[in-house]
Amino acid sequence: MTRHLGGPESPEKLAERQQRYERTADSDTDRVFKVVDDATGEGIGWVGYWERRWRDQQVYEIGWAVLPAFQGRGIAGQATAQALADARSAGKHRFVHAFPSVDNAPSNAICQKLGFTLLEALEFEYPKGHFMLCNDWRLDLRAAG
Ligand SMILES: CC(C)(COP(=O)(O)OP(=O)(O)OC[C@H]1O[C@@H](n2cnc3c(N)ncnc32)[C@H](O)[C@@H]1OP(=O)(O)O)[C@@H](O)C(=O)NCCC(=O)NCCS
Repeated sequence: MTRHLGGPESPEKLAERQQRYERTADSDTDRVFKVVDDATGEGIGWVGYWERRWRDQQVYEIGWAVLPAFQGRGIAGQATAQALADARSAGKHRFVHAFPSVDNAPSNAICQKLGFTLLEALEFEYPKGHFMLCNDWRLDLRAAG
């Protein structure tokens, strides 16, 4: 799961991340959603967007994950489309960026499929101290269609 994200995190770091994601329920700008299997009610992933500063602009960044047993069924693509619709209706920022590793084939395929434009590949620090080559994909939430 973390092959393209700097490797596994400690239980403490995961607990802190979980709390941070849950707190977005009270945020005016950021949202992290649990992806739920309709049939069982089981949590099988997450998708979320949050505000960040990028190239002197306030934008959204979006990210996603689906548990391995549920991958390859189009779930991340569908969940991300729904999160983008939510960001669009919030109407706060025009652009959403995603920064998948250049080697993360499914994530790059999701960006392509959902209409993002590939701007460039760049060295990215995530998590702190870990550098990887990522694509900068951008979607214009105000574009027609
Ligand atoms: C990235 C991730 C969320 C994809 O989840 P998923 O539910 O399997 O994704 P989908 O089924 O919606 O598939 C996405 C697309 O990737 C394509 N794809 C999957 N594996 C691929 C591969 N190895 N090479 C090329 N394309 C691939 C699929 O065909 C699909 O495109 P399509 O709908 O046009 O056919 C999942 O692999 C994951 O959680 N990875 C670990 C966390 C992570 O890396 N998150 C992203 C950080 S940017």
